[in-house]
Amino acid sequence: MPSHAVAFAPGRANLIGEHTDYNQGLALPFAISEGVTVRANGLTDGCIEAVALDVGERDRFLVDRPGHARGWRAFVRGAVGELDRAGAQLRGAELEITGTVPRGAGLSSSAALEVALVLALLKVSGEAEPDRIELAKLCSRIENEWVGAQTGLLDQIASLCGRNECALRIDFRSLEVRSVPLELGEYSLVTVDSGEKHTHAGSGYNERRAECARACSELGVESLREATLAMAESLPEPLSRRARHVITENSRVDAAVAAVSRSDMVELGRLLDASHGSLRDDYEVSTPAVEKTVRRCKRAGALGARIMGGGFGGHVIALLPPDAQGLEGAVEVRPGDGARVS
Ligand code: GLA
Repeated sequence: MPSHAVAFAPGRANLIGEHTDYNQGLALPFAISEGVTVRANGLTDGCIEAVALDVGERDRFLVDRPGHARGWRAFVRGAVGELDRAGAQLRGAELEITGTVPRGAGLSSSAALEVALVLALLKVSGEAEPDRIELAKLCSRIENEWVGAQTGLLDQIASLCGRNECALRIDFRSLEVRSVPLELGEYSLVTVDSGEKHTHAGSGYNERRAECARACSELGVESLREATLAMAESLPEPLSRRARHVITENSRVDAAVAAVSRSDMVELGRLLDASHGSLRDDYEVSTPAVEKTVRRCKRAGALGARIMGGGFGGHVIALLPPDAQGLEGAVEVRPGDGARVS
C-alpha cells in the first residue's frame, strides 16, 4: 500500500451549455490549468487529519465515522463517507489541501476539491480507481448529500475527463463524452470576475433545479431533454421560460461544436451572447454586477460574453479577437488535461 499520494484536479470553464446538465442536456466545458492539490500520507491510527493550507484550518475525525460538518470540512467528510459507501476500504491519512482556483467564482473549485480528495484517498489506501464517469457520480453525491448543493455532473466530468487543447461535448442523457479540439488561432477565451461571490447551496441554484423538476412533472416527461419548444409554451410562467432556456441552450451547444469545428469565431461569439441573453431573461440567473462585467467585455471588443457556471454572481467567459482592447482583470483560460494522481 503506498504511504504517500499526490492528486491534482483542475477546475473548469464552460464554453456553453449552462443549467443543462441536471436536465439531461448538452454542455461543452473544458478543464483549466488551475486546480486543487491534495497530498496524502497514510496513518495507522484510523484517523483522517486534514489541513486546508489556504485558510489555515484543520479537521480530524475517524475514517469509519466521518459525521457531518460545514464548509470545506463537509467535502473531506463527504469524500470519506461516499467512498466508504461505495465499498472502498480506506485507511487513515493526513491530507494537505491547497488550491489555485478562486473559490465561489464559477470555475468549480468545489468539484476540483472533491475529485482531488477522492483520488488521493483511493491511491493512499491502495484501492483501484473506478471508471471516471462513476467517480464523477460519486463526487457529485458529496456535493448533493454532504454539502447541500443539488448540482449536476458538469464540473466533475470536466475535471476528471479533461483533455489538453480540447473541449468536451458531454451528453448528460447517455453520459457520452466526446473531445472537440478547441483551436482558437489568434482568438482567446478569458474569464472575468464579476466581483460577486456565490455559493450553490445558498443561492437560487436549488430553486432553479426544483422549477425544472416541476416543469417535467407538468409535462409528464422524465427530463427537459424530451421537451419541445411548443411543450414549453404550454407551461405556466416562470416554468415556461426556464424550459425554453434549457431547450434552446442544448441546440446552442451543438451549434457551437459546429462553429468551433469550422473555426467560425464570429458565430461562436454570437452563440455566447445568445446563451447569455437566455440565462439573463429566461433562466434569470444574472445579476447587475454580472451585467456590468458582460458590458465591459463587449466594450473591449469581445465577440461574445456570457455568465458562466451556476450564476447569481461569479465569472463571465468572453471570446476575444486578436485586436481586443485591454480588459482589466481578464484571465486567459486554456483547455488542459483532467485530474491525475501519483
Ligand atoms: C454549477 C453546477 C453544475 C451546473 C452549472 C450550471 O457549476 O455545479 O452542475 O449545473 O452550475 O451549468
